Amino acid sequence: MTSRLATDLCGLRLSTPVIAASGTFAYGIEMDGLVEWPWVGAMVVKGLSREPMDGNPPPRVWEATSGMINSIGLQNIGVRAFVADKLPALAKTKVPVIANVFGYAIEDYQEVIRVLEDAGGVAAYELNVSCPNTKHGGIFFSADPVLLKDLLSKVLPLVRSGRPVIVKLSPNVARIEPVAKAAEESGAQAISLVNTFVSLAIDARTRRPRLGAGLGGLSGPAIKPIALRMVHEASRAVKIPVIGLGGIATGEDAAEFLIAGASAVEVGTASFCDPSSVSRIARELDRFLAEEHIARAADLVGTLKK
Ligand SMILES: Cc1cc2nc3c(=O)[nH]c(=O)nc-3n(C[C@H](O)[C@H](O)[C@H](O)COP(=O)(O)O)c2cc1C
Repeated sequence: MTSRLATDLCGLRLSTPVIAASGTFAYGIEMDGLVEWPWVGAMVVKGLSREPMDGNPPPRVWEATSGMINSIGLQNIGVRAFVADKLPALAKTKVPVIANVFGYAIEDYQEVIRVLEDAGGVAAYELNVSCPNTKHGGIFFSADPVLLKDLLSKVLPLVRSGRPVIVKLSPNVARIEPVAKAAEESGAQAISLVNTFVSLAIDARTRRPRLGAGLGGLSGPAIKPIALRMVHEASRAVKIPVIGLGGIATGEDAAEFLIAGASAVEVGTASFCDPSSVSRIARELDRFLAEEHIARAADLVGTLKK
């Protein structure tokens, strides 16, 4: 890593602005030997729920044109097993660990946060709010600013450690600004976007969905132009830092998100094609900055010209 890439993200000192995205980097420790840790700014681990979850029926992944559609169904080992079995080993990487938290009721989020607050070794939280609120007829927390504010007003006070809370927004809304503002007004320290786009792959021969669960979430290069637009809109609507993601596969892709207004980026699907993607992309971004005579990655943030 270099001083060009050193990034301050709501008080976290990151070696680079390139972060591993949730669900594509396992619990972090499985990537040991595959990435160059000093070039990984932070890692967001797989989404954690209060109890272990088996996820959706197979098939759970379908390769789309320039992307993939997944319906993993948030399978995970549960927050307690993560704290006991994974978290201690992550310390040796020296990379800040961001715990991705989700639930289907406000109480689920609260319980996961309570468990994590008692655990050392977590640098920040990322709340995945792209989940249906099963107690409110399945409306997605991320789809309604009122519902989102209600969730955050009951979860953020539980964070007494001072760890920053990032709210990860869904792109499956007509306008991103109201939900971005709702997160900011509720006290979130940062927002990240985008999560996957709800989509459907069909087998024309069987006339059935390709995925066991029916619908899935589209990610990868196919979504990058839409993600860039939404990151740009969100960054103009709020003053808190925005973390941009969606289809980033190269250092120049990462630079585009910084120009659009992101203070840092996350890399997801690219890690499936090349497990070293996160550190490779950070190296490529560093080279890009050197070639463009830009002293610090932060100097690129929000510099889109008309
Ligand atoms: C297989 C898979 C699993 C994912 N699991 C999670 C998850 O547990 N929590 C979450 O917030 N996002 C999850 N995501 C969304 C990614 O973190 C990311 O927001 C999305 O894929 C867009 O970025 P990308 O195009 O770089 O992959 C998952 C994505 C994929 C492809």
